[in-house]
Amino acid sequence: MSVNSKLYEGKAKIIYPTDTSNILLAVFKDDATAFNAQKRGTILNKGIVNCSISSKIFQQLELRGIKTHYIDSPAPNEMRVKAVKIVPVEVVVRNIAAGSLCKQTGLPLGTVLPKPLVEFYYKNDALGDPLLTGDRLFLLELATPEQVETITHLALQINEYLQDFFQKCDITLVDFKLEFGLDSQQQILLADEISPDTCRLWDNARSTDPNLRVLDKDRFRQDLGNVEEAYQQVLQRVLTVVQGE
Ligand code: TMP
Ligand code: ASP
Repeated sequence: MSVNSKLYEGKAKIIYPTDTSNILLAVFKDDATAFNAQKRGTILNKGIVNCSISSKIFQQLELRGIKTHYIDSPAPNEMRVKAVKIVPVEVVVRNIAAGSLCKQTGLPLGTVLPKPLVEFYYKNDALGDPLLTGDRLFLLELATPEQVETITHLALQINEYLQDFFQKCDITLVDFKLEFGLDSQQQILLADEISPDTCRLWDNARSTDPNLRVLDKDRFRQDLGNVEEAYQQVLQRVLTVVQGE
């Protein structure tokens, strides 16, 4: 398969067209950003780790009937994906209070939520990805009510699967962000990635130490150190659990 010049470069991935229409190649980068790219750095081998974890999770979700953009992974940091039109909404699912939920509501870090919270953020870097209300989402025509209903249902199903999967890795899934896209038949597919960049993952074995337990991008955001080690740790546990399934 020959790959043509890049179609789009985002903060964590470069997207290339391929010789096959409707199939794109996503190359995962080691570049890391936080706080709307105000903080920049590199996490060694992040591209390989995030692509590998995402590929395994997408395959597992497909096996459980959840449609994703994943086709295959021709190299450890490369994913062939179905071309989709991304719905410009970041869907965040939270099980435990952390991050912006604590900042904006005053809920103490680590509060277990009575039920998963699904939130929608406007995917717009210029505006800083603001939290949306339902009415604002419809006002901006970012998705139809039917699409929001489908996406919410899928997000909760994915949360059920991921919580269970990460528990088997001895990791608590605190929260995560999903993106969805529409294929040529207007079908909603799970897109983007599911990785330590897009999830908060706390190590059960170190649950009492708020700094040591973090196995995700918060290590980079908050300068906690040992970022690469944490990402590798998640990959190793994911591979072990997938091999045993
Ligand atoms: P938040 O608490 O900062 O709103 O983040 C919620 C979840 O979304 C967390 O798991 C990290 C993830 N996330 C992204 O994947 N990309 C982003 O740009 C942001 C702000 C959060
Ligand atoms: N991906 C986001 C950015 O750099 C921020 C984050 O993940 O915290 O803009």
